[in-house]
Amino acid sequence: MSQTGSAISHIECRGCGQTYGLDLTEFPCRECGGILDAKYDYDALGVSRADVADRGGSMWKYRELLPIQDETNIVSLGEGNTPIIDCPDLADELGVARVAIKDEGQNPTNTFKDRGASASLSGASEQGIEEVALPSAGNAGQAAAAYAAQAGIDCHVVLNYQSNDIQKNLVRAHGGELHLAEGKLDAAGDRFGELRAEEGWYTVATFQTPFRHEGKKTLGFEIYEQFDWEAPDEIFYPTGGGVGLIGIWKAYQEFHELGWLETQEPPSLNAVQTDGCAPIVEAIEDEADEHSPWQSPESIGRGIEVPDPGASPWILEAVYETNGTGVAVSDAEALHGAVTSARKAGVEMCVEPGAAMAGAMKLADEDGLDPEDEVLIVNTGAGNKASGPLTYGLHQENRWDGAPGAP
Ligand SMILES: Cc1ncc(COP(=O)(O)O)c(C=O)c1O
Ligand SMILES: [Zn+2]
Repeated sequence: MSQTGSAISHIECRGCGQTYGLDLTEFPCRECGGILDAKYDYDALGVSRADVADRGGSMWKYRELLPIQDETNIVSLGEGNTPIIDCPDLADELGVARVAIKDEGQNPTNTFKDRGASASLSGASEQGIEEVALPSAGNAGQAAAAYAAQAGIDCHVVLNYQSNDIQKNLVRAHGGELHLAEGKLDAAGDRFGELRAEEGWYTVATFQTPFRHEGKKTLGFEIYEQFDWEAPDEIFYPTGGGVGLIGIWKAYQEFHELGWLETQEPPSLNAVQTDGCAPIVEAIEDEADEHSPWQSPESIGRGIEVPDPGASPWILEAVYETNGTGVAVSDAEALHGAVTSARKAGVEMCVEPGAAMAGAMKLADEDGLDPEDEVLIVNTGAGNKASGPLTYGLHQENRWDGAPGAP
């Protein structure tokens, strides 16, 4: 076996503190149902910042800080190592020093979900699992199906009727077994729960497996490295379940602990949602430590139409400890954000990152950004994931008058 040099030591429950060995395959915590998190022995890390910086390749360049021990179990399609694209026109428009986009649309299945899929399917592979399952709004299911196929693992994906044809068809194209639930994301979650109870599937669902947010951590690692081991002042993240936001937060904490950062200041993590489903933004406005479930969610940004995000205490910790905030934008503003990114930066976005762009524009409009600020927008998914909503948005363009930054 060729070792990755991973410094992982154990798995710990964030709910009750119970610790588990690396052979754990029953997720989430069997004592309390809490979120499981990978813990590392940083003193045992056998690499320096310079060693890592010199490496090219996928997100696995950070393999010592990822939870896989045997290199042959890594399931990779070349995910990560995505570019930062500078947008001077947008910096002018927002009145800040710099606007950059982290372009996760350039991942193998066109979203940042590939990082979580790569880590969770690698974890399944290392644990000798032959069949996995997850519920998804669409993109995570597509990514899981792709990585499962690469690993020779059977994959069950529970989507709902709102998932788009690209997502449904590509799950099947990768050989995944598609299950469709009647209803919204919560219906897919319920159906997944029933099927899993019957079939005993190994779960790669958000915050059930401890591996997905580990994969997303590499998004943060790359951002800090690409900002020369500093951090942007403000990051705008389209927040659904919060996996990526927590990944960026955990990445900051690990690099900080290792002394790899040139700055003590974390980036302010700003959670952007749409006003039809904004439980995190509402909790931030109420200065609450957890969300209240959102009644009647309705957003065309399906990946952020998450009415009951179970990890809200962790998301809110990340926002509060970094002096971030919450911003809610309308669906029309999100589409306008996506089109603005295409026109001003050449970066194609789907609806969810369009919301993040619109959130930055809105905060700038409300004088919430500093002229010195370096601002990073996370483009979580490419424009080709949202051709339907974009058709609608472009027809509605004349209604954008009044939206922050509208032409
Ligand atoms: C394109 C896109 N952006 C953002 C999100 C929200 O992700 P997170 O769970 O990290 O909040 C999703 C989730 O489905 C998504 O597909
Ligand atoms: Zn527990």
